[in-house]
Amino acid sequence: MAHSLSVAAPQPEATFEHRASGTRFSIQTAAGETFQTLERQGETQRVRVSYVVGSGNHAFGMLAQVGDHLFQSPLSYYTSRRAWDMAPGYEDSATPDFSRPVTLECLVCHSDKPLPVPDTLNAYRNPPFAQTAIQCDRCHGNPERHLQNPVPGTIVNPAKLSPAARDSVCEQCHLSGEVRIPNPGRSIADFRPGERVEDVYTVYVTRHSPDQKIKVISHAEQLALSACARKSGGRLWCGTCHNPHDKPERPAEYFRKRCLTCHGATLAKSHAAPGQDCIGCHMPRRPAKDGGHTAFTDHRIARRPEVESGQDTGELVAWREPDPAVRERNLALALVTAGQENGRSDQVIQGFRTLYRMEGNLSGDATALTSLGTVMLKGKQPAEAARRFARALELRPNYAPYEVNLAVALMAIGNTAEATRHLEHAVQLDPLLEQAVELLSRAYRAAGQNSKAEELLARYRTTMGITLRGNAGAGPDQDPGHRN
Ligand code: HEC
Ligand code: HEC
Ligand code: HEC
Ligand code: HEC
Ligand code: HEC
Ligand code: HEC
Repeated sequence: MAHSLSVAAPQPEATFEHRASGTRFSIQTAAGETFQTLERQGETQRVRVSYVVGSGNHAFGMLAQVGDHLFQSPLSYYTSRRAWDMAPGYEDSATPDFSRPVTLECLVCHSDKPLPVPDTLNAYRNPPFAQTAIQCDRCHGNPERHLQNPVPGTIVNPAKLSPAARDSVCEQCHLSGEVRIPNPGRSIADFRPGERVEDVYTVYVTRHSPDQKIKVISHAEQLALSACARKSGGRLWCGTCHNPHDKPERPAEYFRKRCLTCHGATLAKSHAAPGQDCIGCHMPRRPAKDGGHTAFTDHRIARRPEVESGQDTGELVAWREPDPAVRERNLALALVTAGQENGRSDQVIQGFRTLYRMEGNLSGDATALTSLGTVMLKGKQPAEAARRFARALELRPNYAPYEVNLAVALMAIGNTAEATRHLEHAVQLDPLLEQAVELLSRAYRAAGQNSKAEELLARYRTTMGITLRGNAGAGPDQDPGHRN
């Protein structure tokens, strides 16, 4: 975990062709810095890759830096295959590019404290994190008291916390679930060791039963299904088998000892004989494949492990319930968010109904209002949606994505003049917010202001390192709307 993120070192030159989208990627080094270039249908984008995510056990992800903004690279390097390929989530993209923002959520798991510019989606201070690699305080809390009095007991020892707080230390990074919903006014990055994650946000997972065939899920979810965890009264946790300070040199022997701390007394002598590789039979490895956010080692610890298959169509449930005061609201938001992502309209409607019923209490809750507005807009009620988006914007007036939401609803009502004003403010707040640039350029064109549209697009392209074949200016039909 000390190598979860690093400054990009010069990389060997390479090229990679993504057939599905007809995109040619290349990796170059110049003056000690790494660049990635994509070429597709006469369009070229060249960006500087500043950070590498992951230690490369399985894969390296890349982060591109444009000014103070961070974007995901659509390319990953897969160490097992020693090959460049599309990053997870870009495999089937028709227009892979460097426009996906790297949000706080991504950095909070892979680096030490990220330093975001307030009210932005993906702008950070320079450098963007206090340290690249994960530091002691992410598991031990604030070190000040310990540095003044460096004896055990003055730092949080995760192993000595209550089970929920203890497990939370690892879950903050090892359990993303289907969706994580921050409590009102909180950010996922607010979690501190000693708390339960529910004090800050609720994780929602798909309900599984131990005998159900399941798709690949996280270590935490798998472990919770094991008989070892279910029947040991909260004693078994990640730290029973993993010591974050020490990677075992002889894993088979090391893990056998961990198993026998509980099973030593009861197992048949022959079964527990020295040399038995417990994990070889009970915690087999799945064949390594691309991905990076799923368990390779089976943490269900079954008698006879089976190949995982099946589908996650189950109910969405809280991993642990939060305070009753936020229970309904958090679940409703989770249903809308996860339902929209997974195409589950039953979940979206269920979540929406709850939020709608509670709306009287949500007038200060920009996240909930935005969620309501999003569903209303989809349901062809743009005027209703606009009211919620306008209120969310009042609560967070300098957040560009909220300006875009309101503009989209206003457009749908036909109030283009007002919509254009909000888009202009969005672009002023965040000139690299692709959706805002795209919508505003379209609005200008629709109003016959072609040169204004061209200027806007040219500025965006120049900053994002995009050039078009022929001239650096724009043909009338080429705008970033053709990319995703
Ligand atoms: C701040 C985020 C964070 C926290 C907190 C965290 N992990 Fe990790 N952990 C990671 C990341 C990121 C990786 C992957 C590193 C890589 O290979 O790129 C990882 C990798 C691991 C691995 C794989 C082996 C290795 O060392 O690479 C184990 C085992 C592990 N973590 C256990 C734990 C346990 C146990 C806890 C709680 C005591 C914990 N982690 C807390 C982020 C975290
Ligand atoms: C909830 C925390 C969390 C979030 C959010 C998250 N990751 Fe991870 N990521 C992990 C952990 C933990 C691992 C270690 C693999 C595992 O889960 O066993 C990992 C593994 C990876 C790996 C493979 C590393 C290796 O050594 O093989 C890459 C690449 C990666 N993540 C990139 C990203 C990027 C890019 C983002 C944001 C867009 C992101 N992750 C968001 C927690 C997270
Ligand atoms: C990924 C989480 C994680 C990180 C990061 C981490 N530790 Fe730990 N540390 C633990 C856990 C878990 C234990 C408890 C092990 C046990 O007692 O079983 C522990 C135990 C300790 C102990 C013994 C505490 C006691 O009361 O006995 C010390 C000292 C310590 N860590 C120091 C550090 C320092 C210094 C750093 C930074 C260089 C660091 N740790 C980073 C998880 C972490
Ligand atoms: C914290 C204690 C603890 C640890 C550590 C532990 N187990 Fe268990 N395990 C249990 C308990 C309790 C049961 C349930 C026994 C019962 O049903 O009577 C169990 C059950 C099992 C079962 C039967 C599963 C089933 O579905 O019936 C297997 C297999 C198993 N453990 C293997 C392992 C292996 C292998 C390890 C080490 C990698 C391990 N256990 C570590 C406590 C533990
Ligand atoms: C009963 C023992 C046991 C427990 C408890 C346990 N693990 Fe593991 N874990 C293993 C074994 C064994 C491996 C494989 C290590 C190896 O092959 O060297 C592993 C591997 C991993 C890896 C590396 C990626 C992979 O899938 O191989 C991560 C990350 C990890 N565990 C996270 C966790 C987290 C998070 C928890 C708590 C939710 C946890 N583990 C609890 C035994 C355990
Ligand atoms: C060669 C494969 C293999 C190895 C190695 C192995 N097991 Fe098992 N184990 C099994 C099988 C198969 C069963 C199921 C037996 C049955 O259902 O009758 C089992 C059953 C169990 C059970 C549940 C039944 C019981 O007797 O309580 C536990 C617990 C268990 N093993 C723990 C361990 C531990 C701990 C180790 C390492 C010391 C280990 N196993 C090594 C294959 C293995």
